[in-house]
Amino acid sequence: MQRSFDIVLFGATGYTGELVAEYLHSHAPAGARLAIAGRGAAKLEALRDRLGAAGMGVLLADATEPGSLAELAAATRVVVSTVGPYLLHGEPLVAACAAAGTDYVDLAGEPEFVDLMYLRHHASARDSGARLVHSCGFDSIPYDLGALFTVSRLPAGVPIALQGFGLASGAISGGTLHSAVNAIARFQEAGRISRQRRAIERHAPDGAIAEGRTVRGAGRRPHKEPLAGGWVAPAPTIDPDHVLRSARLDPAYGPDFTYAHYIVTRRLSRTIAAAAGLGVVVTMAQFEPTKRLILRLRPRGSGPSAERRARSFFRVRFVADYGYPDHRGRLITQVRGGDPGYGETAKMLAESAFALAFDSNLPNRGGGQWTPALALGWPLIERLERAGIVFEVVGPTL
Ligand SMILES: NC(=O)c1ccc[n+]([C@@H]2O[C@H](COP(=O)([O-])OP(=O)(O)OC[C@H]3O[C@@H](n4cnc5c(N)ncnc54)[C@H](OP(=O)(O)O)[C@@H]3O)[C@@H](O)[C@H]2O)c1
Repeated sequence: MQRSFDIVLFGATGYTGELVAEYLHSHAPAGARLAIAGRGAAKLEALRDRLGAAGMGVLLADATEPGSLAELAAATRVVVSTVGPYLLHGEPLVAACAAAGTDYVDLAGEPEFVDLMYLRHHASARDSGARLVHSCGFDSIPYDLGALFTVSRLPAGVPIALQGFGLASGAISGGTLHSAVNAIARFQEAGRISRQRRAIERHAPDGAIAEGRTVRGAGRRPHKEPLAGGWVAPAPTIDPDHVLRSARLDPAYGPDFTYAHYIVTRRLSRTIAAAAGLGVVVTMAQFEPTKRLILRLRPRGSGPSAERRARSFFRVRFVADYGYPDHRGRLITQVRGGDPGYGETAKMLAESAFALAFDSNLPNRGGGQWTPALALGWPLIERLERAGIVFEVVGPTL
């Protein structure tokens, strides 16, 4: 089927969308056909002028108008979406891409959204050939691809106990705050949808784990962890869901794989403050008036300044214990880079779109909802390394 564009970015006028548009424009291979899309022609044209991207297409589409999304999906080979909160605005575009056989990437960090899209659109995407790849930003590229990078360096066919420790500094945007608070307000519903997904996926021919293999989540207790450089505590993010799903479907993660996921703070007082802060947000998010109070802290469309972004960084360290009781080994790796939430997220999302549009050596999964590691795998790791994100082995000991 003839398509006018290779990549269309929906949500280009948002805080993150503009960073992604800049990256796509300045790093696309020669001849790539790019377009930006959104609901306001004037804002989109002003962005195109600011970028100096005269050749970039401009498409009008609104998340509330399915017809405009069907036209968008039919006009391109790959759609990138930064229109969030995804639970509020995301589904009609995923549906349009699944129906049109158009590859799709986003920045969703909302587990309920990803599980719902699996339940409602995986089958039609499988039929049309559309690859639906969520969470291609700081959630969850460093974790999902970092886990793949780590297990690829271990002997084949051995049990693996992997721990991931994420340390990050940075400020958040209005869109991220709205998405997180909206997701937190619905955590009970999210748990129900997650169980429904697991029940269906474990019997699906393309979702079932191979006979004899086990893959489980592990850990959860806060503790001091010298290998992580501070205090570690479990965090309610989407990252372990993706790592475990990649492990379930890829035998390279070994016959018995566990993953424990933690965030790191340098001091115990910060861990306690973070846990208390999360508790307050969870409580306030349950009631509309107090939820609105939190959301006022950062309006949609706003985000950290360029100076704040320049001072931000992330480091995700992995500790893999592997082998049978009589032959145990340990490998420590890490993934690191600059501003996790926006600078590096824009890079990760744009490189994921380039991979879908232009790389002929991606894992051969066919259509459907796949994790970043399952859909994009090593070709994306290599792209991100060339773009300055470091994947490295730091030793059997530190
Ligand atoms: N997980 C990660 O690593 C990560 C990192 C960064 C961001 N994110 C996620 O990315 C999303 C965007 O964040 P952000 O801070 O960039 O948000 P934002 O600045 O509020 O941008 C939202 C975008 O959505 C567009 N939009 C809203 N409603 C629309 C509709 N009905 N039709 C078409 N477009 C519509 C807005 O267009 P207008 O300009 O017309 O209003 C804007 O372009 C959030 O869900 C956030 O959580 C995730």
